[in-house]
Amino acid sequence: MTDPSSAYSRLNLTGKRIIVTGGGSGMGREAALLFAARGAKVTIADVNETGGNDVADLIADAGGEAVFVKTDLTNEADVKNLVATAAERFGGLDGAFNNAGIIGPHGSIAETSFETWQKVIAVNLNAVFLSLKHEIQYFLAHGGGSIVNTISTAGRFAYPGLPAYVASKHGALGLTRQTAWDYAAKGIRINAILPGSTETPLAAGGLKNPAAAEVVKKAQPIGRLGQPGEIAEAAAFLLSDAASFIVGADLYVDGGVSVNP
Ligand SMILES: NC(=O)c1ccc[n+]([C@@H]2O[C@H](COP(=O)([O-])OP(=O)(O)OC[C@H]3O[C@@H](n4cnc5c(N)ncnc54)[C@H](O)[C@@H]3O)[C@@H](O)[C@H]2O)c1
Repeated sequence: MTDPSSAYSRLNLTGKRIIVTGGGSGMGREAALLFAARGAKVTIADVNETGGNDVADLIADAGGEAVFVKTDLTNEADVKNLVATAAERFGGLDGAFNNAGIIGPHGSIAETSFETWQKVIAVNLNAVFLSLKHEIQYFLAHGGGSIVNTISTAGRFAYPGLPAYVASKHGALGLTRQTAWDYAAKGIRINAILPGSTETPLAAGGLKNPAAAEVVKKAQPIGRLGQPGEIAEAAAFLLSDAASFIVGADLYVDGGVSVNP
């Protein structure tokens, strides 16, 4: 039987060194704060210097350890530098939350420019490839690790007017499953979380109109938007030792959107 005094210890992230991409805003920001509060040493990666530094300062002010590394995740040299800097700063690396993403303008494919397509694929798919590649190379050489990718219910379902976003998220989910399979026996656990509509700056554009916001809330059985901290909780669990047998999972954190697949 589990000793009650240690019942929660596997959920803690004490001493774990974790990269959070897109850590300067929204879900990444809440995840960095939560991971640090659970004892992790956090490397925050973002193109947004102000947001990233703010989060690192908040963690330091609360007595935690964090560093911000300005990173454009679509640039391979930046991603290599991120992994090397994180490992050097904290003496190693145990986990990564690959969470950065963009949504791009709404419009059907006939209305979507090739430039928009390429931009969304670059951040939501190419950057996930680069992050996985360099994190996995590190973990292979250093005894393993755990990775969580932020996908979206758009990785499973179509949404009106979001062809590039839906395609990029379907691709990133496929890459999660493929890498989960390829590296499971090598000590690397890779999983996906699929958030539903969540109150962050990314979603704010589509929710400005109160009528549109009401439609989005009603589309989620729980009847409300998610909060970024609720997504962070799922990522913290999957990165923790409590999830040691969970590999290649699609963890929906969506207020029930996925009940009718
Ligand atoms: N908010 C939602 O409703 C929702 C729902 C499902 C999935 N998601 C996904 O959740 C993830 C986080 O989104 P969020 O809602 O917190 O958005 P957000 O806009 O608040 O945060 C995203 C962060 O990613 C960073 N970023 C963008 N491009 C980057 C790049 N090239 N290099 C480094 N950083 C970059 C941004 O600067 C920003 O800080 C995304 O992958 C998004 O697709 C969001």
